[in-house]
Amino acid sequence: MNLSRRVLAAACAASVLSVFTGTVSAQQAREVKLGYALAVNSHYGAAAQAWADSVEKGTNGAFKFKQFPSSALGGERELIEGLQLGTVEAVIVSTGALSNFVPEVGVVDIPFLFRDTQHARAVLDGPFGQDLLTKFHKRGLIALAWGEQGFRHLTNNKHAVQKVEDLKGLKIRVTENPVHITAFKTLGASPTPMSWPEVIGALQQGTIDGQENPISVLASTKLWQVQKHLTLTAHVYAPVALIVSPNFWASLNDAQKAAFTQGAKLGALASRAFVDAVEKKGVEEAKSHGMQVVTSVDQAAFRAALEPAYKQYATKFGQKSLDAIAAVK
Ligand code: PAF
Repeated sequence: MNLSRRVLAAACAASVLSVFTGTVSAQQAREVKLGYALAVNSHYGAAAQAWADSVEKGTNGAFKFKQFPSSALGGERELIEGLQLGTVEAVIVSTGALSNFVPEVGVVDIPFLFRDTQHARAVLDGPFGQDLLTKFHKRGLIALAWGEQGFRHLTNNKHAVQKVEDLKGLKIRVTENPVHITAFKTLGASPTPMSWPEVIGALQQGTIDGQENPISVLASTKLWQVQKHLTLTAHVYAPVALIVSPNFWASLNDAQKAAFTQGAKLGALASRAFVDAVEKKGVEEAKSHGMQVVTSVDQAAFRAALEPAYKQYATKFGQKSLDAIAAVK
């Protein structure tokens, strides 16, 4: 046998062995690039680790995740585009930029849509949320599970926001999300859509007065370093989508697809568990770093002020969808 035949025979023997033993050497493992906006020690990091561990274990090491936290691959819009182009295999993103790709998703971004966390989780894990995941397919994205950031609250550097009128003229950074932009305009603020990687610098330079994000983001980014006031508005629930690239998905066999789906579900649960924990201590931590906190607002007054926006949302997403969400117990 000549050398090349001997090498080929050895390679075949090794691959037959790996099928029997179910082990794959690190060199053979396929790399899965996973991008997200926040640090490793955040709810996104928790989701990423649970997803990676589950897939790596469930496929006997056939895949090896390489994580790109802290917007290392760009903002969330770039991450989603990366999935469509096939330059990244997996991402964990908020719904911030998502509705520019999958407009139907915007329905979950409506302010005060969900009664509480339990309601939001029941909707997203139930038929409505699972059907929403299928809408990603025709937009060139494979969404596998809904994770969580918590309810979004308002921070700013100008003054304590206690009531709707206090928002007047405040330059609030919002995500590039039409539903959120409409809401803040309607409330009298001056919403400034901006990609997350630019936000801390813009707050430092004073080109914006404030931003809105859940306690999980506030704590993991130490927002108290650049923001004085926090108001627990809980104005909108913030879901997270765990998504893979369609090219990558098409290259997987059924068992591997099942492993990625199962891993994404575990990742989603890990993000929720992290949020539950951080919400318990995050506000106290913010206070201990000198943040002035308004602990509640009259949500009914905010809802009333949003009435013109609700009319637009009903036209855009259909009253039937809004009623279906409200009906979930
Ligand atoms: O505000 C945002 O853009 C998002 O909530 C963030 C912080 C990037 C996490 O997905």
